[in-house]
Amino acid sequence: MSKPLKRIHLAAHFPGVNNTTVWSDPEAGSHIDFGSFVHFAQTAERAKFDFLFLAEGLRLREQGGKIYDLDVVGRPDTFTVLAALAAVTERLGLTGTINSTFNEPYEVARQFASLDHLSGGRAAWNVVTSWDAFTGENFRRGGFLPQEERYSRAKEFLATANELLDSWHGDEIVADQATGTFLRDAKAGSFVHTGQHFDIHGRFNVPRSPQGRPVIFQAGDSDEGREFAAAGADAIFSRHATLEAGQAFYTDVKHRLATYGRRPDELLVLPAATFVLGDTDAEAEELAQEVRRRQVSGATALRHLEFVWNRDLSSYDPEGPLPDIDPDVGDHHIAEGRAQVRMYRDPLATAREWRELAAANNWSIRDLVINTGNRQNFVGSPETVARNINHFVQADASDGFILVPHITPGGLDVFADKVVPLLQERGVFRAEYEGPTLRHQLGLAHPDDARGEQRAAS
Ligand SMILES: Cc1cc2nc3c(=O)[nH]c(=O)nc-3n(C[C@H](O)[C@H](O)[C@H](O)COP(=O)(O)O)c2cc1C
Repeated sequence: MSKPLKRIHLAAHFPGVNNTTVWSDPEAGSHIDFGSFVHFAQTAERAKFDFLFLAEGLRLREQGGKIYDLDVVGRPDTFTVLAALAAVTERLGLTGTINSTFNEPYEVARQFASLDHLSGGRAAWNVVTSWDAFTGENFRRGGFLPQEERYSRAKEFLATANELLDSWHGDEIVADQATGTFLRDAKAGSFVHTGQHFDIHGRFNVPRSPQGRPVIFQAGDSDEGREFAAAGADAIFSRHATLEAGQAFYTDVKHRLATYGRRPDELLVLPAATFVLGDTDAEAEELAQEVRRRQVSGATALRHLEFVWNRDLSSYDPEGPLPDIDPDVGDHHIAEGRAQVRMYRDPLATAREWRELAAANNWSIRDLVINTGNRQNFVGSPETVARNINHFVQADASDGFILVPHITPGGLDVFADKVVPLLQERGVFRAEYEGPTLRHQLGLAHPDDARGEQRAAS
């Protein structure tokens, strides 16, 4: 008997500060105006997407000591945006990226519990661990946490936040229409936590929210990051969106779950993915190449090369050959406040490989950057894209995708109109939402179900 078809999960990553959005496009809108967020969220909800996703950057990116302004600059606060979106959507999940290094558990638990109440159970937290001292300077904590301690703090942060969220129990609250909600058990909300990173006690002042706890995402890629996800996350936001890399990542993290007594379906793998659609495959391919050229101007190409070379390359001609000099592998890095920097862990090897590629293909600096980065994951007619997305999911390269369109805010419209109906026809994507909360859409158990099982077992 053949395996039953997996249901695909789809999410929409708001194209805010990044260099994959074509900001020069006449259709590109503001990444700050609320109208952009509303358009994007309502398109995702119209298409029955699982959730909207907001990335986070806590300090303006800099390169060579200057603000990096080749894309857009600046971003509004995550909780404020998601709370406002809760009011203009009904079923769409609302996922915010919130750092465990520079925040405090009490405050973050309150914010997520509040968002979960306001949205009727749609809140999700992407726990990220960025530790860099550059970002920390905004918080008077420059360099306060060594890199190797970031997951130790993240683990304790999440555990502490869960203790606060769990300190209110559903059966200790009596909801009364006439008198309002009041407590039956005066101990509800009280907590004591003593640990390496947090030493706090008190009363948590937000009653238990519809989902009990926000859905937890994890986005780190290291061994520690994957273990953190296997131990306590509901979903992983990964960067492995090709078939082979996706399958390898998927197998790796799903195998880690058994150690924590968890089943493979308790952790969803959702890579970020880009797409370009055309009426035909050939038209889409042509458009995809044009989009890549527009994403990578000459100036952008030079700045990108600087991530690897770690040197000022502004005197180079982007239409000319790659630098002969080798990357500077010193501790200081020319670019600060961005994740790409850490993608090139061996700059000397990357530089060597890129020089060989450029020589073999007769590529300029700009050609090289266009051809090695930002290649869209799904390119083709709506039929081709729907078929490929489904193939990737059924072949266990992922459980779905977090789509990042290249136009803000209208880049999702064409996907919603043309690809989603085809996935629905194939029976692999929902035609209606499964229930009121994000846990319903993702097929995740409510934490109280687990507590109920534990209570029954004990
Ligand atoms: C796909 C992906 C998206 C990420 N998005 C963000 C983000 O929006 N904000 C942020 O501060 N860190 C982000 N990160 C950084 C990670 O959370 C983590 O801090 C970083 O990858 C270092 O952890 P690692 O060594 O386990 O990879 C992202 C990482 C990945 C892989």
